[in-house]
Amino acid sequence: MARIVGVITTSHVPAIGNAIARGLQEEPYWKPFFDGFPPVHRWIAREKPDVAVIFSNDHGLNFFLDKLPTFAIGAANEYRNEDEGWGIPVSHAAKGNAALSWHIINDVVNDGFDITMCQDMLVDHAVTIPLQLMWPAGDWPAIVPVSINTVQHPLPSMARCYELGRSVGRALASYPEDIKVMVIGTGGLSHQLDGKRAGFINREFDVHCMDQLVADPESLTRYSIPQVVELAGAQGVEFLNWMAMRGALTGAVTELHRNYHIPISNTAAATVLFENRPRAERRKAA
Ligand SMILES: [Fe+2]
Repeated sequence: MARIVGVITTSHVPAIGNAIARGLQEEPYWKPFFDGFPPVHRWIAREKPDVAVIFSNDHGLNFFLDKLPTFAIGAANEYRNEDEGWGIPVSHAAKGNAALSWHIINDVVNDGFDITMCQDMLVDHAVTIPLQLMWPAGDWPAIVPVSINTVQHPLPSMARCYELGRSVGRALASYPEDIKVMVIGTGGLSHQLDGKRAGFINREFDVHCMDQLVADPESLTRYSIPQVVELAGAQGVEFLNWMAMRGALTGAVTELHRNYHIPISNTAAATVLFENRPRAERRKAA
């Protein structure tokens, strides 16, 4: 069966892509953010995941406001990136794993999620920047992209995204092939790009959310979308990707690493690494 070894989350601000392209990682502005990644690189080198399931939101490259699925899952063996207009170099394509994608799609539909299945899907900076941050040499694993609408209201609830993640986690647990999977959640944390509260950041709420992801993730499902907008900013709702990511963890979860830095562009940037150990294995070790 597929085994989820852990999850990594990161912000995906387009400016990060520019910083990578221009080699600015050691500049004073960027260093505190990029310094969050060596522990992530060491963990990936140790665990060597075969596949990354990525929860993120599309920003108009693949879906736009005229047609925006609440949940979409890629079912392709390759995912291309294209010019999004941010001035970021177009990245090379990501490999897919269509067989695993279809297995997940079948299971989550059986669980009651009405998924848009995409045999042709572009991936934008919300996928390519996290991959570049986590595998700077470009040796990305195969991916299964899961796109969540965080753009056009009504958005799916925190509870619904958490449940989607749980369904994906169960699907992975029943996949017959013996592969190592890591889960990635991208976006956030608190930020608001426009309106009267443009530049809004809420460190206290961000830290609370990161703490609760380990201690009591279900407590976060009580926040309504208007409450998340109020507490995290209009674009801070990208935390929905983190909720789905956390839901996928079915084992004993330990936080191995956290880096929180304000600001990157006008965003509270966070990188978190959780390890996921089967409960039986953990009991044996204790
Ligand atoms: Fe975003």
